[in-house]
Amino acid sequence: MSEAPTTRQEADFIVVANRLPVDLERLPDGTKRWKHSPGGLVSALAPFLRNQDGAWVGWPGVADADVEPFEEDGLLLHPVALSADEVRDYYEGFSNATLWPLYHDVVAPPVFERDWWQSYVRVNNRFADAVAKTAAPNATVWIQDYQLQLAPAMLRERRPDLRIGFFLHIPFPPTELFMQLPWRTEIVRGLLGADLVGFHRPGGAQNFLWLARRLAGLEPSRGTVGVRTRPGLVQVGDRTVRVGAFPISIDASGLDAISRKKETINRAAEIRRELGNPPKILLGVDRLDYTKGIDLRLRALQELLAEGRVDPGEVAMVQLATPSRERVEHYQRMRDDIERVVSRINGEFARVGRPVVHYLHQSVDRSELAAFYLAADVMVVTPLRDGMNLVCKEYVACRHDLGGSLLLSEFAGAAAELTSAFLVNPHDLEGVKNSLVEALSIDPAVGRRRMRALRRQVLTHDVDRWAKSFLDALRSEPTPQ
Ligand code: ADP
Ligand code: F6P
Repeated sequence: MSEAPTTRQEADFIVVANRLPVDLERLPDGTKRWKHSPGGLVSALAPFLRNQDGAWVGWPGVADADVEPFEEDGLLLHPVALSADEVRDYYEGFSNATLWPLYHDVVAPPVFERDWWQSYVRVNNRFADAVAKTAAPNATVWIQDYQLQLAPAMLRERRPDLRIGFFLHIPFPPTELFMQLPWRTEIVRGLLGADLVGFHRPGGAQNFLWLARRLAGLEPSRGTVGVRTRPGLVQVGDRTVRVGAFPISIDASGLDAISRKKETINRAAEIRRELGNPPKILLGVDRLDYTKGIDLRLRALQELLAEGRVDPGEVAMVQLATPSRERVEHYQRMRDDIERVVSRINGEFARVGRPVVHYLHQSVDRSELAAFYLAADVMVVTPLRDGMNLVCKEYVACRHDLGGSLLLSEFAGAAAELTSAFLVNPHDLEGVKNSLVEALSIDPAVGRRRMRALRRQVLTHDVDRWAKSFLDALRSEPTPQ
């Protein structure tokens, strides 16, 4: 990735997200390099945007980085700097210790700190300033995710000529939980600055419409919101804001192609050999986040081993966990918990040179990830709550051989689409254990039928379709209901 001064000044299409698609890394010898940013938002949007000739406004991932705009792969990147205090208060604090747990069913208690809120307001204003300077007249601006929920209204104040969309990549919570937020009205008004507000699921859109009535005193439409159809309408002054459901997806054909490559297939066989040729391989792939249910899938395995329902000589589990938000307390506690369970399982059930759980607190590149997907007999995806979850779709996209089974939490947005998976309630440990045993012993012909159905869904609903459906809706005029 090259850093070079850009010649283009203004853009007609701008994505705005907390993070740029690349993070600046400061190496111990003082040099710097760019690496891919973690998480589903970047995995989904980066491939789509490469063909769009647009700009991306975001934070370069480290505090106090003073970086000029630069071009990467045809995309104009506009860094927004955050101070160390802002990283602590806006990013780690309000975004990831207030909003993140609140929006994920309060699986951890959200922390409400007035200073964090002030920082969130300040940083959202800075993003709005940066976009206002970068956008060409009448440009389309697409703001992403929970870190920037005030930016739509702030940007509209500065640039009423722009077409502004907002998409939330995480779940939008039930209204009773949202109502806990001391700054609930400000957030609803911030989002209503957009022309189109998008969620993964109709339920999120419906919750938001209720709040627009209750907190902003508006009169939203009362019809049921559909998937990519029948958005709700809210009249805000002379503007009509649309509120819809647009389930995100992945670059399915790109991953399918990688997984068909000879090198990937060979690497998958090599991974199997490296694991000691176990009859069955279980795989987990996640950012190390307490919402992902990594601990409970390990506990399910631990109990199955202890009860003799799974033979430690017959199964190896690989857990890839990308480091994430490492200074936030709840993340530190979760990491300790997970590492404790991994060592307990291995302490009790491993043999020399043959651990049962292979735990890597690391990111791997896309082709290595595809090889892991191809090697895994059961993909275990057990979030307590997840807006969508792209990992399960990536697994399906890689199984051109129709092998493998997917065990998926009902509480991932993807469960509404991937109905041929083994769907589990992650709070029901016995249910998870039973489904794991079933998935491990599935008749291959039945497994292939299920995988074929999953692939039909994933390959026909890719990220381009998601982006196109959102942007077509954003650029069209609202139709009265
Ligand atoms: P989230 O957005 O909450 O991180 P998603 O499942 O939607 O969750 O997206 C996670 C993305 O990060 C996926 O594209 C997945 O492939 C990638 N990812 C997660 N863990 C790893 C890992 N250890 N190595 C490489 N990529 C990973
Ligand atoms: O939508 C999930 C998300 O929070 C994205 O907004 C974010 O880019 C990604 O996960 C990774 O999280 P972070 O940027 O905090 O490392």
